[in-house]
Amino acid sequence: MQDTDWEGESIVILDFGSQYTQLIARRIRAERVFSVILPNTAGLEEIRAAKPVGIVLSGGPASVTTSGSPDLAADIFDLGIPLLGICYGMQLISRAKGGLIERSDHREYGHTIIDADTRDDLFFNTPKQQRVWMSHGDAVKSIPKDFRVIASSAASPHAAIASESDNIYCLQFHPEVFHTDYGSEILSNFLFRICDCKPNWNPQSFIDLEVRKIRTRVGSSRVLCAVSGGVDSSVMACLVDRAIGKQLVPVFVDNGLLRQGEVDEVKELLSHHLSTELVFIDASEEFLNRLKGMSDAEEKRKAIGECFIDVFERQSELLGPFEFLAQGTLYPDVIESRSTVGPSATIKSHHNVGGLPDTLQFKLIEPLSLLFKDEVREVGRSLGLPERQIKRHPFPGPGLAVRIPGEVTRESLAILRKADKIFIEALNREGLYDSVWQAFSVLLPVKSVGVMGDERTYQNAIALRAVTSTDGMTADWARLPSEVLQRIANEIINKVDGVNRVVYDISSKPPSTIEWE
Ligand code: XMP
Repeated sequence: MQDTDWEGESIVILDFGSQYTQLIARRIRAERVFSVILPNTAGLEEIRAAKPVGIVLSGGPASVTTSGSPDLAADIFDLGIPLLGICYGMQLISRAKGGLIERSDHREYGHTIIDADTRDDLFFNTPKQQRVWMSHGDAVKSIPKDFRVIASSAASPHAAIASESDNIYCLQFHPEVFHTDYGSEILSNFLFRICDCKPNWNPQSFIDLEVRKIRTRVGSSRVLCAVSGGVDSSVMACLVDRAIGKQLVPVFVDNGLLRQGEVDEVKELLSHHLSTELVFIDASEEFLNRLKGMSDAEEKRKAIGECFIDVFERQSELLGPFEFLAQGTLYPDVIESRSTVGPSATIKSHHNVGGLPDTLQFKLIEPLSLLFKDEVREVGRSLGLPERQIKRHPFPGPGLAVRIPGEVTRESLAILRKADKIFIEALNREGLYDSVWQAFSVLLPVKSVGVMGDERTYQNAIALRAVTSTDGMTADWARLPSEVLQRIANEIINKVDGVNRVVYDISSKPPSTIEWE
């Protein structure tokens, strides 16, 4: 399934590599208008297929004055639909229309106040003086014929320009970032006053469409899927179930690396939301045997991935035949796998262990491949999944194995499970669980000296990790109250045999990663 398969109208965002490209798409979708991100190399046909009623050209790290910098591949002016160029996009449009671009020897970066022409549709219902966020090196020195200035600032005489008769608008600043005070109003004006969009993108319309699409595609065939209890696979399974009910066979593999109580929780949860009984496979012995004697992080990940494929392949033969496999791929994975420029081109650091090889002869169904994570949560809510499930922190495919540096044994897993349960329960009790993006414990492979009662101890240390983040690509350590940390540390040391020390991880990502392995 393609990400341009939404049947309604859309706004196409051409990606010139800005770190904010996904943000533009999310801001537009927050206005209930569907948006797709296409690479800047997309041709007219690909753009037309997305049924755009407007196009946004993103910013980007390059300079249009450098030869070989990304250019417009398609003659988008031919489409006759409204255009909005942001930063690099502004410079591209201006140059194409005969304006002159100047390379500045210093970057303008940060807040600035613009003076806007509020009679213009783009600035409708916003104040004349407003704070915006600038981040650019190049600037438009002389604007193209037929354009006029609709906003300026002390440092940028051409902070916004427009050719209203052609519905072309250009902004030197970034309306998509939170620091631009009236950014959502400006984007909403572009959508509703200039492109005449209808706000018809919402979880229910998405569900209705996907259900229809899945039914048509699957017919009377059977579909296999793997569920892990995570938000993505649960929402995916519920959505496919809504479409084809008992033709879906959901498989849940216990790899022996799950958290305390997790197997029962997942079984319980999905039993209420799926029409077919979950096929539960206890493969913990097999996984733990394969991990025996292994201490290298990548080796462990690889072994777990391979073991998962073996188990899953055997099951698919036992339960089959299946024509389709449903997966919980999200939109950022789709974008990142085909991005051509800029930071969005950098390859994701984590590899999904649930990823299955092409040799499995299934046709893929990826019903969430249009959605960002926050939209997956909204769809989950619309499908009736409980809030505690929707708000679950991410949990890596290789599970607790990447939270036990070195060899994974049954004993080390038991210690980690107990400590982690105490940590997570405390966060829930203190009302802090939802304020962090992810929280977990790591069992460190070091022993240190302690004293309990009158006795000297020599035991393991637990590291607690809690981070704030929006997408897991960058993260900061969560400023949990020190008295809460103290209570958690005491409880772990008092209740978990084998642990006599607790430390709190205060590293951010980058340079550290969220997980320890
Ligand atoms: P890192 O440690 O790379 O993690 O900063 C970023 C996010 O990805 C999760 N993660 C994984 N998820 N398989 C997964 O399915 C993996 O191998 C894996 N490694 C890390 C991590 O929990 C965090 O949410």
